[in-house]
Amino acid sequence: MTWNNLLVVLGVLLLLGIAAYFLFRRRDYGKRIRRLPLHLLGFPNIPAVPFVLNEIPDTLFRLSKRAYATTQAKSGLNNTYKIEGFDANGYSYLYGRGKDVPAEQEMDRQQLKADMETAILENELRPGKVRSRLEDNTHPLTAQAEDPITLLSLTAPEQFAMSWTTFNAVYEDAEPQLANYAATLTDPEVANREFWPTIAQHGFAYNLLILQKVNAQNAADFKAAFGEEWTADIETLLERQLLYAIDLRFYEILQPQTVKGNPRFTPATLTLLAQDPSTKTLQPIKVIVTGYQGTQKQIYTYGVATTGAWLYALQAAKTSITLYGIWTGHVWHWHIVSAALLMTLNNEVEETHPLRLFMAPQSNFLLSFNDVLLLLWKGIAPPTSVSSATQFIAMTDVFARGRAYFDDDPDVTLGKFGILKSDFSENGDWDQFPIAGQMLQLWQATGDYISAFVNNTWANDAAVVADKQLQAWLAASTNPEEGNVAGLPALDSRANLIRTLQSLVFRLTAHGSARLNHSANPVLSFVTNFPPCLQLTDIPPANADISTEALLRYLPKTGTIGEMMTFYFTFAFSAPYVPFLPLAGNNTELIFGDDPTEPRNAALIAFREYIHDFITGYDAPTPQYYQWPRNIET
Ligand SMILES: [Fe+2]
Repeated sequence: MTWNNLLVVLGVLLLLGIAAYFLFRRRDYGKRIRRLPLHLLGFPNIPAVPFVLNEIPDTLFRLSKRAYATTQAKSGLNNTYKIEGFDANGYSYLYGRGKDVPAEQEMDRQQLKADMETAILENELRPGKVRSRLEDNTHPLTAQAEDPITLLSLTAPEQFAMSWTTFNAVYEDAEPQLANYAATLTDPEVANREFWPTIAQHGFAYNLLILQKVNAQNAADFKAAFGEEWTADIETLLERQLLYAIDLRFYEILQPQTVKGNPRFTPATLTLLAQDPSTKTLQPIKVIVTGYQGTQKQIYTYGVATTGAWLYALQAAKTSITLYGIWTGHVWHWHIVSAALLMTLNNEVEETHPLRLFMAPQSNFLLSFNDVLLLLWKGIAPPTSVSSATQFIAMTDVFARGRAYFDDDPDVTLGKFGILKSDFSENGDWDQFPIAGQMLQLWQATGDYISAFVNNTWANDAAVVADKQLQAWLAASTNPEEGNVAGLPALDSRANLIRTLQSLVFRLTAHGSARLNHSANPVLSFVTNFPPCLQLTDIPPANADISTEALLRYLPKTGTIGEMMTFYFTFAFSAPYVPFLPLAGNNTELIFGDDPTEPRNAALIAFREYIHDFITGYDAPTPQYYQWPRNIET
């Protein structure tokens, strides 16, 4: 070996050593967590996105194991379908023929890991580097030719069942519902009947508290949007307090994107719903659909629009609802705001402080998962029109403008939208809006848990005021240069501390619902119930003649359905890193010593018992008690 060669080898070893140091050193909890410099990139409203680069390789490794865990469920996509001369099983349509998807995904992750190593070596935190990475929406596999079987529109509504796996009897259990779901694409009456219950019963993991009552105050805005289409019938519904709206015009800020050669489009929609005073059921009656910046505006009226156009309008509304659910209902409420507060908690409060001890079991995994999601968007995010992290951040920054911390809480959200229990309870509490009832119950149980913790930790309001670390946490959390969370109250009383922590712990806990099988299967995994995007960007007129096949060309194509199943299966068919309920029993893994009668431990045990009972109802008829995670992991 010549000296030159030796020097090269030594140089390479040195570089590898530096990379390994940055990759594998453990986070020192005494160290401050930094944030992505989004405020320097023109996004002043979004709370801090903490940046824990050192934890990313671990996170990629864990995600790799998760992906492998879903193999059995994916292999269960084995029913066969005939589409455009192809005769293949669901797996082939969703992922390609003869493709070893797990191997390709592993290639993806190796590519991502290499990207991260480069990122670490190149000091990714520089704003210019961060910007280019967040804007990157190319998928490593797009370089390879896509199998044409993954680029097909379905040709019959029943084919959407190809994403129901036979594993775990998902298909078998769902089959009795197939005709009904398929009919939502052919029969306006069925589509109307199913529209609201699908959201109200199955929108928990998407946090779909999006319905608002139309009243004298907010009617003017809606009236202006509908113009002459705001008829006397609608005015009568308003007077009788039977008029509701789902207002997702916000998505006029989104431009359609092209991914893998096909457009992904999120229409902006405003849906009016009428309530039947005798049954309290809701049905959509009018929908406005627009494109980017309000272009292509169309208004559809039930009974007036053609069958195909009305069915299109409902699919457009569902698409915007799904987009809201993924990125705003779920990710904003539960991932983004929580992460900022966990960062400032880490930075300002010592590990031995009761609040750090109390929060520690629920504070893991989230920060680095958010980083992986944003920095490696192309490999992680579901197939919506928000096709790069920059687009997500820009959208979320607009959403965050003027929004206060407590606005996210279910009681405030429902209150602001004028949603009353009496309006949605016919044969039982909240039976016409079950997820609202579930959210409020979980909110209350979280409040009981937090109250016991706070009241048994700080003797009185003065003790809260005097707690320097608590006050430092608040100051950092509200500081635009640090946590950048708006609307936090002064921590000058136990009541304010309880409310603040109730909101944080509710977010971290409610998120756990997303892993349960029945959050995904079979309702969400039939993608036209919650379409992640439309794949044509034109908005057809209300009098257009649209056949079923023409309608299906607007809806997710085979490969898009496949990406959506990869997203859902990651939650439903992989185990949590740490289950919320300890496997050895609710009296184990306590926080303040091991005495179950210590009042804060007793409150934790009671909270766990509540979650257990909640899962019994939520994940019926086959509740998976240990599938609810303790942390936000994915
Ligand atoms: Fe999540």
